[in-house]
Amino acid sequence: MLEEIYFATGNLNKFKEAKEIFEKETSEAALEHFEFRHREIRSDSIEEIAKESVEAAYGGLGKPVFVEDTGLFIDALNGFPGTYSAWVQAKLGCSGILKLLEGVEDRKAKFEACIAFHNGNGIKTFKGVCEGRIAENERGESGFGYDPIFIPKGESSTFAESIELKNKYSHRYKSLLELISYLENL
Ligand code: IMP
Repeated sequence: MLEEIYFATGNLNKFKEAKEIFEKETSEAALEHFEFRHREIRSDSIEEIAKESVEAAYGGLGKPVFVEDTGLFIDALNGFPGTYSAWVQAKLGCSGILKLLEGVEDRKAKFEACIAFHNGNGIKTFKGVCEGRIAENERGESGFGYDPIFIPKGESSTFAESIELKNKYSHRYKSLLELISYLENL
């Protein structure tokens, strides 16, 4: 078991969520932040992107570290924006996605997160998926990114309306649980 592990990310919102989940789910490893800006490779696979990023993060830090790559995959748009979610969020935002889905009845979507962990002995990956649907309009103030338009399956609130809901169902929560269980068995 490790005593400390670093989350390499330039996104403090991601780190905050992960820290809360770590504190709730394990008492054995403390999560630290490694401020990390990295130009991601282009790929249709979040796993490939995460693996390449964690090589760079470990190269810079030299301590046990993980990165996480997330994509929003919308059924009616054939999986768009997928691995281009960050770029689309910056260019179109949530309102752009809602425009693309105007008049579309099938609102099914999912978040997928892939964590890649590196401790000097190779890379391990852990995935988390959260099924749900795209709301008709933006709702809620908490969270970040696509949270105001994403409703997890079986619920009616968006992630941005309920951070408790998010930390219970999210792709990030699920992938972190996998990582924690791996770390606890090291
Ligand atoms: P990346 O994993 O940092 O590349 O994130 C891809 C895009 O998805 C960015 O625009 C993020 O803001 C967004 N994103 C990542 N995680 C979440 C989340 O948990 N909720 C909503 N949007 C997210």
